[in-house]
Amino acid sequence: MGAPGCSGEKREGRARLVFSHGPEGASIWQKQIDRFNKQHRGEIEVVLRQAPADTGQYFEMLRTGFQAGETRADIISGDVIWPAQFAANGWISDLSNRFSSSRRNRHLPGAIASNTHEGRIYGVPWFTDAGMLYYRKDLLEKSSYTQAPETWDELQEMVDRIQREQGVKYGFVFQGADYEGGVVNALEFVWNAGGDVLDPKGEVVIGEPRAVDGLWAARGLIESGAAPEAVSSFKELEAYTIFLAGDAVFMRNWPFVYALSADTSVSNVKPEQLGLAPLPTARSGGRSSSGLGGWNLMINAASDKPDEAWTFIEYLSAPERQRERALQGGYLPTIKNLYDDAEILEKVPVAALGKEAIKNVRSRPASPFYYDMSLSISERFHASLTGSISPDEAAATLHRDLKKILARAEKL
Ligand code: GLC
Repeated sequence: MGAPGCSGEKREGRARLVFSHGPEGASIWQKQIDRFNKQHRGEIEVVLRQAPADTGQYFEMLRTGFQAGETRADIISGDVIWPAQFAANGWISDLSNRFSSSRRNRHLPGAIASNTHEGRIYGVPWFTDAGMLYYRKDLLEKSSYTQAPETWDELQEMVDRIQREQGVKYGFVFQGADYEGGVVNALEFVWNAGGDVLDPKGEVVIGEPRAVDGLWAARGLIESGAAPEAVSSFKELEAYTIFLAGDAVFMRNWPFVYALSADTSVSNVKPEQLGLAPLPTARSGGRSSSGLGGWNLMINAASDKPDEAWTFIEYLSAPERQRERALQGGYLPTIKNLYDDAEILEKVPVAALGKEAIKNVRSRPASPFYYDMSLSISERFHASLTGSISPDEAAATLHRDLKKILARAEKL
């Protein structure tokens, strides 16, 4: 019998484990899981339980399940923003004794930091993500541009000219819906205008002028027509569907979209028509930052098969599996030396840019109260994109909201 709420069962000496993850890249994970099951035939069997694609919905599903003691998964794939909250509530296992420091050192420091809470480690990095600017190299070249835009003004100018000369439907698509991806987009606009959410001391600074400039940059792209009004309801899927249909010049998205362009059943745009660049900044010479994303592997603290779960995590996060996922799906590895792997760099251009992008990634605030902060950021960003409030008002309200959330956290 499994522990209450856990589905791990031991029958005829075989442990059956449930691994929960979203639908993206499922065929690649499934192949790897099948191989694991074959290697462990008669001992361990892992079944994939599909979680919602939207990270916020997935989080809600897990949180409700944990609170009710009903989360039926032994191994959980988790977004980089979750470990602090899950660990603070005792919902995931402390892996400090299993995940040795020499093993940890093989991974990117940002990915390790995202799994660390109060000096203990709660997850193993699986793949990393960084926001990137995708552009249509062929369209830029036809209108005599030889380089990607470095500022939002340059992007605007290119959109105007390319639309005039070549009649492409949209200029720039990004993610402005009221959900977690909207938070990352909002922060990238804020960072790339020189602003921030919290200062190094943890004080809220989102109401300050540079941060407001960032929110205006996003709204300005909609007002000028460079981005369609509909971006305020776009998630990753809507943005890449339009871009891969050939209907937009520029797109902000994560690395996995690159691999989709090689599949002619989903993409009219071929990999050779694509360019990748760091996200534009508000001022020329500004430093470009990308939001750090990515996924980790964690063990449900209520699982009664933690040893078997760990065996699976070691397998799935190993360099060979990360390498395969990079080559087949464009997922950026968390193992540092895979960024020097000649085959990956040659076949997965997104990894070459990723190598640079990961030097410039910034994290969303790490806090057991992150989820409340996130809800507030995405709501205000989305409202400022639809025009129902101004970017100034969005920043001022956010400033007050975040101060209240942090003050509440301090009282606990
Ligand atoms: C990607 C990122 C994740 C982020 C999410 C937002 O899955 O890896 O960190 O929260 O997108 O939609």
